Amino acid sequence: MEKKTFYITTPIYYPSDKLHIGHAYCTVATDVIARYKRLCGYDVMFLTGTDEHGQKIEEKAKAAGMTPQQFVDNIVTGPKGILDLWKLMNISNDRFIRTTDDYHVKSIQRIFRKMYDNGDIYKGAYKGMYCTPCESFWTESQLVDGKCPDCGREVHYAEEEAYFFRLSKYAKPVQDLLETGTFLEPATRVNEMINNFIKPGLEDLCVSRTSFKWGIPVDFDENHVVYVWVDALSNYITALGYLNDKYDDFDKYWPADVHVVGKEIVRFHSIIWPAILMSLGIPVPKKVYGHGWLVIDGGKMSKSKGNVVDPYVLSEKFGVDALRFFLMRTFPFGSDGNFSNELLINTINMDLANDLGNLVSRTTAMVEKYFGGTLPAERETAEADEELVGLIRSTRDAYAVHMDALHPHFALEEVFKLIQRANKYIDETTPWVLAKDEAKKARLATVMYNLLEALRVALTMLLPFMPESCEKAFEQIGARGEDRSWDNANRYGVLPCDVAVHKGETLFPRLDVDKAIAELEEMHRASSEPPAKPVLPDVTIDEFAKCDMRVCKVLTCEAVKKSDKLLKFTLDDGSGKPRQILSGIHKFYEPEQLVGKTVVAILNLPPRKMMGQDSNGMLLSAVKEVNGKEELHLMILDDSVPAGAQLC
Ligand code: MSP
Repeated sequence: MEKKTFYITTPIYYPSDKLHIGHAYCTVATDVIARYKRLCGYDVMFLTGTDEHGQKIEEKAKAAGMTPQQFVDNIVTGPKGILDLWKLMNISNDRFIRTTDDYHVKSIQRIFRKMYDNGDIYKGAYKGMYCTPCESFWTESQLVDGKCPDCGREVHYAEEEAYFFRLSKYAKPVQDLLETGTFLEPATRVNEMINNFIKPGLEDLCVSRTSFKWGIPVDFDENHVVYVWVDALSNYITALGYLNDKYDDFDKYWPADVHVVGKEIVRFHSIIWPAILMSLGIPVPKKVYGHGWLVIDGGKMSKSKGNVVDPYVLSEKFGVDALRFFLMRTFPFGSDGNFSNELLINTINMDLANDLGNLVSRTTAMVEKYFGGTLPAERETAEADEELVGLIRSTRDAYAVHMDALHPHFALEEVFKLIQRANKYIDETTPWVLAKDEAKKARLATVMYNLLEALRVALTMLLPFMPESCEKAFEQIGARGEDRSWDNANRYGVLPCDVAVHKGETLFPRLDVDKAIAELEEMHRASSEPPAKPVLPDVTIDEFAKCDMRVCKVLTCEAVKKSDKLLKFTLDDGSGKPRQILSGIHKFYEPEQLVGKTVVAILNLPPRKMMGQDSNGMLLSAVKEVNGKEELHLMILDDSVPAGAQLC
């Protein structure tokens, strides 16, 4: 019989700043569900990837002095990039899509044309308030005091030719879909979508832009690039081979069983995406699950707040499995969760070191101590066993209900009821007392066997969460390959009667809370240093020699009126004629600090006017971000270097 399929996806990630623990949360959760479904025997397709186009990436690449492709390649495939992070977190995706992959680009062009041909995309004009320096349209309500919210400059009314998708046409079918109650979960998100977006009226969506280039060109009108969300959402079908020859799995896996997404992008997945699919005549996904955010002190993690938590640091300190477990155990998946180092350390101590770790080490140590590591075949059951044996048989099904509902947090709750019950069973049966009486050997063996069985079943259910640690623990309790199967996870009596244990390393050592927190803080501080910028593409010595850089003495220096950034310098550049240069370094220096200093300037840049004043060249400085703040150091040389000396 053919296996049932299960297609599960994460969002595709922006290769912009370093990914943080919040990003890892979404991917780990999806990985846990994918592993669970494989364990249950499904043929799983787990897709993740990167969303690489758009104006922001274009701008960031420019600022870094790279082409957009070099920029995204570095963040996706470079050291500690996105691929490295997923490898570290033990993510078992079957496929990885980049929206810059050729096959995806071709599919998107075909998708756009198909929607155009069927009359759902039409040419119109994008209207709004336009900020020329930022090349951005804003709505009236986005303006701040009537000015550009990004740069604070004047905006003006403008129109830009653009293609539009008839989203309005799909308002009713999308509302019906949302109201089925199974398409979008958790249920609270359904009302939010209907009340905030559908009821006020769905407007047609602008799906092409002409103001930047880093996107997929519309193949029948190459001035336009496809709107990033159409490009990005379609990854879920292009990665299966929809309108391309790269893959051939569309019929097998589509419609997706679930798109797992963060709450802020539910709108794109539950309104725009089904409408696009309806336009293409393709079935919609079976489910979109909008999970909550990991927050810090109730607020979003962000680079500018300097509170992003680095998954590399946490994994290095506590191990990947402990981190994966913590993320799933602590926060109900549909709600926001407040991350803290204390919570992480306490969870590791309580659940992993005390409850699970202790059960493994106490049980294996007792089997070694009392039976030399191998249980005798004799048994003697007692009433005291019933509850534990009952849980060994029933926990799997309770767990499965929660896992199938995408509630891994509740599923773990069931597993820990079993683990805690097993620990209590040790206290109730007092094996150390039984061990003193030769006549109680069979009873003692039964107690040990029951504990090993409880562990076998618990470890099978924990396998999707902590794959590596569970494999090690299986070895320790003597579980063979077939003992670890899903089918055996609701049975009692699976381990051989004469099972042999192998007490090994402590799986989850107990942590000293204060010490661990201090170490973590130090590690985070060190890791928040931005990575060294990659070296720019080569220039020839002749190209370099074209820059005329000379040593200058600062004759005068004053602040430029009405500017909080600019300083005006008069310099002796060795030519006998004073030279005026303006430099935006007032934030870092007061004028009187610089008079008389020996500095370096590039002289042959084209003259510029700044705040109505001439600037003939540029002073050289060294710039670096340190602890999230930009630091600037003007190049100041020893006073013995004469004015006019040339840099070579
Ligand atoms: N590129 C889009 C998705 C396109 S899908 C067709 C995007 N990328 S993202 O990199 O910004 O976010 C990827 C995922 O990480 C989203 O689901 C987002 O919700 C999730 N998270 C980002 N920060 C998060 C937290 N602090 N907590 C939990 N998830 C968070 O959106």
